[in-house]
Amino acid sequence: MDYRDKVVFVAGGTSGINLGIARGFAAAGARLSVISRKQDKVDAAVAELQGLGAQAMGFAADVRDYEAVEKTLAATAEAYGEIDVLISGAAGNFLAPALGLSANAFKTVVDIDLLGTFNVMRAAYAFLRKPGATVVNISAPQSWLPTPMQIHACAAKAGVDMVTRTLAMEWGPAGVRVNAIAPGPIEGTEGMDRLSPNPEAVAKLTKTIPLQRYGQKEEIAEAAMWLCSDKAAYVNGVVLPVDGGWSLGGSLGMSQA
Ligand code: HXC
Ligand code: NAP
Repeated sequence: MDYRDKVVFVAGGTSGINLGIARGFAAAGARLSVISRKQDKVDAAVAELQGLGAQAMGFAADVRDYEAVEKTLAATAEAYGEIDVLISGAAGNFLAPALGLSANAFKTVVDIDLLGTFNVMRAAYAFLRKPGATVVNISAPQSWLPTPMQIHACAAKAGVDMVTRTLAMEWGPAGVRVNAIAPGPIEGTEGMDRLSPNPEAVAKLTKTIPLQRYGQKEEIAEAAMWLCSDKAAYVNGVVLPVDGGWSLGGSLGMSQA
């Protein structure tokens, strides 16, 4: 993949899957801008991307704060020019039954994942290259698979999918494609540390994945880079599972138990 001189903005791009995506684009020659809440994570991510030989900058901003997000997009465009690729993947999650969630706990996850995605999209539009920009939101199979202990994240990611499809329709005429990736369980991430926190849980979950393994961050990066490339020029409004077949929801785990 050749992303030389392309401008790539990654919301939530300072760790895990999203930093993996940023790394992929950086290695392909892109100029990166990453944001997240914590300045120390931003600094470390920028240093890592620069270490790959990429131009990179970053800003501390909370995606729940529209004006803060808008400032970081404006600063990116000011320094690098129009944004070619927008990745929106900031998210929060934890395991809790619905009856263990306060209204504020539910709202917090919806605000980060769903309102945050809307904020990033809404604020970015003015700075996107038109025609030609591509957007990838980071969803999850839980957006269509109801999952006990994750009502907050399920609802939020379902909303992310509808933001994706709706903007694919609204922005397609301007030459902006909008898609999403729904990663399955990805190794070495905060998300899986929270959702599958011990070796027993990992082994049980792995049995339910047809490919019998967790995915790698690099595999999500490859999918994102394909979706944003001319090879996917007619792909618009999809939510692409990259999950080893996990979301097919068969009875594999049960049959091998
Ligand atoms: C019940 C909880 C809770 C828990 C927090 N809360 N953790 N309730 N069980 N385990 C409640 C708090 O009591 C509070 O409600 C409300 O949530 C807000 O908590 P804060 O700590 O004030 O929120 P904040 O500082 O904004 O932090 C957000 C966070 C935190 C989501 C709670 O965990 C975070 O920053 N996460 C970011 C990193 C992350 O989660 N990465 C993994 C993404 S993985 P009250 O009523 O007391 O005020 C992922 C996988 C997707 O998304 C796959 C499935 C969809
Ligand atoms: P992660 O490392 O915790 O990534 C979350 C990123 O978002 C971090 O950079 C975090 O940095 C940032 N962030 C969190 N809240 C924010 C806020 N309010 N404003 C701005 N930035 C914020 O977790 P991950 O597991 O790699 O997850 C990355 C994405 O993949 C998420 O969208 C997640 O839902 C999705 N996903 C993950 C898996 C998995 O297997 N891990 C599976 C399916 C989907 P700060 O703490 O500095 O803010």
